[in-house]
Amino acid sequence: MATTLTINGKTHQVDLPDDVPLLWVLRDEVGLTGTKFGCGVAACGACTVHINGEAVRSCQTSLSDVDGPVTTIEGIGTPDSLAAIQKAWVENQVAQCGYCQSGQIMQAASLLAENPSPTDADIDDAMQGNLCRCGTYPRIRAAIHEAASKIKEA
Ligand code: FES
Ligand code: FES
Repeated sequence: MATTLTINGKTHQVDLPDDVPLLWVLRDEVGLTGTKFGCGVAACGACTVHINGEAVRSCQTSLSDVDGPVTTIEGIGTPDSLAAIQKAWVENQVAQCGYCQSGQIMQAASLLAENPSPTDADIDDAMQGNLCRCGTYPRIRAAIHEAASKIKEA
């Protein structure tokens, strides 16, 4: 039986088994390849998306467990109108190889929605499950602080 999903504000019907990971649905069925496959076991954060605004690991979220609207990196801004968090990422030149960064941004966006003024410790705590083999952690932290200030000013 087809499942109806709302992804980035659009409705999609997907006819796949209930236990297919959301990550597969997003990348292979819907064509949203901004969300990355890293470890496949909820240990790296590369596949992070939002369900009901909360950060989840889409590699370990079954289709049948999706209980609300999904937002991916493609849904939080556009090339012509970047979200504040994406602008902060660009301004701080956070990305190196870039592979982990959509997951980092989605995790950070979820943090800022819950805590508009995170301390360094709050950031380290919220972001600890998002790994970056290029070691961009200091720039990630700086970008989150900058995005927090820009969001408050707006
Ligand atoms: S691919 Fe999902 S946490 Fe690593
Ligand atoms: S920028 Fe290369 S893994 Fe994070």
